Amino acid sequence: MTQDAALLGQLDNEAQQTNPSSAFVAIGGAGAVSAVVEEFYSRLLADPATTGFFTPLVESDGLAALKRHQVLMLTKVLGGPDRYAGRDLQTSHGHLAITDETYRRVSLHLLTVMHDFKVPMDILQAADGILGSVRPLVVTGAHGDAQ
Ligand code: HEM
Repeated sequence: MTQDAALLGQLDNEAQQTNPSSAFVAIGGAGAVSAVVEEFYSRLLADPATTGFFTPLVESDGLAALKRHQVLMLTKVLGGPDRYAGRDLQTSHGHLAITDETYRRVSLHLLTVMHDFKVPMDILQAADGILGSVRPLVVTGAHGDAQ
């Protein structure tokens, strides 16, 4: 686990106080979200269709920061505390020329990992809906591009 234990504890405490019936709490809180994020990036790095996007980050030691941002974004999206301080999705992905095909692949990796971690079906469906709605912010590559 590469996530800061103190931060995860704060997220859980705050969630219990402010929104105990959230999907974030239901799936097991910050520990569960962090485990999902770790596995998600393991799969993206193991997938030949996606690994190349992350090479610059791996080489510059930026993967830990990306995982941290992803934990905070997922926490927020699942109704947990809002601590996300990364860039918005359009700004952080605009230069990557991500195609629809790559986006669908990455979305499936995320949903599959959540399913493997026993996230309930109603939350998976909500996550699928959110992935559909933010797609235009992430997909900027033309159909048929190499990536
Ligand atoms: C499925 C919806 C997606 C979500 C919710 C998402 C979320 C995020 C977040 C929160 C960040 C961090 C932004 C920051 O650090 O300021 C990020 C960065 C990044 N994402 Fe995504 N992402 C998605 C799809 C994708 C896809 C399809 C790819 C390509 C395979 C991708 C590749 C990257 C890369 C390479 C970065 C780092 C960019 C950089 O720092 O230069 N993401 N993403």
